[in-house]
Amino acid sequence: MKRKKQDFISSLKIWYKKNKRDLPFRKTKDPYSVWLSEIILQQTRMRTGLVYYKKFKKKYPNLKSLSDARGEMLLKDWEGLGYYNRVKNLHSTARFIQKKFSGTFPSSQKELIKLKGIGRYSSSAIASICFNEKTPAIDGNVFRILSRVFGIKKNISSSSSYSYFYKKSLSLIKQFKNAGDYNQSLMDFGSVQCLPKNPLCGDCIQKKICYAFIHKKQDCLPVKKKKKALLKRFFNYYVFSYKNRILIKKRGENDVWAGLVDFYLEEKKKKIKEKNKINNSVKKLITKKYSITFFDAKTKLSHQEIFISFIEIKLFNSSVFKTIEKNLDLLSLNKKELNKLAKPKVINDYLKKIS
Ligand code: ADE
Repeated sequence: MKRKKQDFISSLKIWYKKNKRDLPFRKTKDPYSVWLSEIILQQTRMRTGLVYYKKFKKKYPNLKSLSDARGEMLLKDWEGLGYYNRVKNLHSTARFIQKKFSGTFPSSQKELIKLKGIGRYSSSAIASICFNEKTPAIDGNVFRILSRVFGIKKNISSSSSYSYFYKKSLSLIKQFKNAGDYNQSLMDFGSVQCLPKNPLCGDCIQKKICYAFIHKKQDCLPVKKKKKALLKRFFNYYVFSYKNRILIKKRGENDVWAGLVDFYLEEKKKKIKEKNKINNSVKKLITKKYSITFFDAKTKLSHQEIFISFIEIKLFNSSVFKTIEKNLDLLSLNKKELNKLAKPKVINDYLKKIS
């Protein structure tokens, strides 16, 4: 192995010994716990991830308890993390392992990757941490650290660069007695030292050999092609209420927030902000006295930005309320019932504001 690679590895080992983060899922090699932590941490930063990890471990301490859980309940517990498909996959994979393998996790990367919701990264993370398989888990940290230290100028957004970094990492991971330590040292080094913006080069153990530091190219590496523009969408939510009841809608399966609960939605080219612009068929249904208020919100998902107008329509007549419920195929709930259902974060934030 080349000298530079050797220097990189020996410094990384020293750094990790000194700076390894004390994380609850590092105290175990139980694949269920490691799997859970990896899926949660794909969603969010460490601080929030730890809160959810502890909550899930307490409520669902093992694979059996997760596979026995009700889907609706899991959605509720996942609320706030987003990407609800991940928790649905978590559930169906738990059930699959329970049923097909009597609750025993597959123990190789090749088998793990066959499971729903476990991709290249998580299969390698689990196999290396729990079974000491020398398989590199390639994530943004690895792209960044290797690009900077070794001066790699490959565009990390192109699909071919994954196998380049994987191959490069294979020779590095072999230098670690414990494969999980190799992968996790890079996760920590990337999160603590070699940060995406303003990396802490001044006191970095790799600075003597780091290409980016030597050539002042920290801001240019890794090379990333420009992101596609975010899709802009405009959601007009009609929030019908009568006394303490509110009309809700369960979302379909083919769009954002699949299976969660929101309100009667009209998606348009613009937000509706005036009484005379509201939907005609809605207008026709409101035959008696009502009050109307508008409330703005905005949310950003990975590939889209959603601009929202909540059109609050307060009704004072129960038969009008019932007609709207029936005609628009909605469901009437009181606040307590609504609280139990999983909703997108932006809807929860809105409900908190108006309560
Ligand atoms: N991010 C995802 N998995 C992690 C792990 N095992 N340690 C630290 N950060 C992580």
